[in-house]
Amino acid sequence: MSKLANLGVMAVSPTSITRAASLLREGHLVAFPTETVYGLGADAQNEEAVKKLYEAKGRPNNHPVIVHLPSPEAISEWCSNVPKEALLLANAFWPGPLTLVLPRSEKAKNFITGGQDTVAIRVPSHPIALALLKEFGGGVVAPSANRFGKLSPTRAEHVASDFGESIAIVLDGGPCQVGIESTIVNLSGNKPEILRPGMITADQIAAQLGISASDLAPKEKPVIHVPGDLPSHYAPETPLYVVAQEELHSLIKNSSGLKFAVLAFDDQPENQPDNQPNKGSAYRWLKASSNPKRYAEALYATLRTLDQAGADRILIEAVPAASEWQGIADRLQRATQK
Ligand code: TXA
Ligand code: MG
Repeated sequence: MSKLANLGVMAVSPTSITRAASLLREGHLVAFPTETVYGLGADAQNEEAVKKLYEAKGRPNNHPVIVHLPSPEAISEWCSNVPKEALLLANAFWPGPLTLVLPRSEKAKNFITGGQDTVAIRVPSHPIALALLKEFGGGVVAPSANRFGKLSPTRAEHVASDFGESIAIVLDGGPCQVGIESTIVNLSGNKPEILRPGMITADQIAAQLGISASDLAPKEKPVIHVPGDLPSHYAPETPLYVVAQEELHSLIKNSSGLKFAVLAFDDQPENQPDNQPNKGSAYRWLKASSNPKRYAEALYATLRTLDQAGADRILIEAVPAASEWQGIADRLQRATQK
């Protein structure tokens, strides 16, 4: 706990929200819970603060960040054009785990957009995030509060384990309920596209827009820089593989003394008949929820647990192909060994 205390992890109260908002105004970095993952916040209009944010994360400065707003109305300040699709999606899903990429206004400067003509906007639903944004009264850029390339944080202690004194305060809101980052929809081009799948599914978005979910797939790889596209992004330290159920069992059975940490939908099978201690049984076995919401909620904490098990390999059973699993499948893919 002393590590948390040094970092200024604070239980949330009206005083801590007021304090956090004034720290943001003074150009400091504040970590706060959102419904998806913890964000590391800075005043979206303060270039020095944003520079500090990129340095703390170790993030290349051409990678754009998401502007978090207290209400959908503020969107028109940050965007030069708000298409009807944006209004439809904002009405349906905000506040909530959805980010919209739109043509930027003068207010969205190069230092938050990575020099692009677009800006990413989100109105989160977490009550602490909303209270902070309302008290601050402006836009807060907030990437996930992890060091670049590391697993995203879904607990205050994950934030504390990644950062030193560089954060002024961490507002502790307990575990995040959604568990993986927001769905990102690009509305700045000829047609809507999903740039990052999440727990708001392609089917849900397509239904609001009156189109088919397959139309939302990006035509070509986006030219914009998305850090998740870098090979090792979101990866644990232990090599991780996503495999079908049969392959999982045969890998474990045929391993020659390798220690496997496993996440699978079934319970660990009974001990193998040949009864060899280092062969044929997993070193650590976690049972995954078959409910995608529960699976996503636990995902990053589970990956941390598997990473810290002291195994040689992490094996994860492949998830179903259905729409509500796409965000999870995407994060697992990003965490695999390339
Ligand atoms: O759920 C979330 O979105 C969390 C919480 C804290 O709100 N935030 C988050 O931020 O995941 P970050 O910075 O880790 O990921 C933001 C993603 C990046 O992949 C970035 O490239 C993309 O948003 N992005 C930001 N601005 C963009 C833009 N103008 N065009 C395309 N992609 C953009
Ligand atoms: Mg991130």
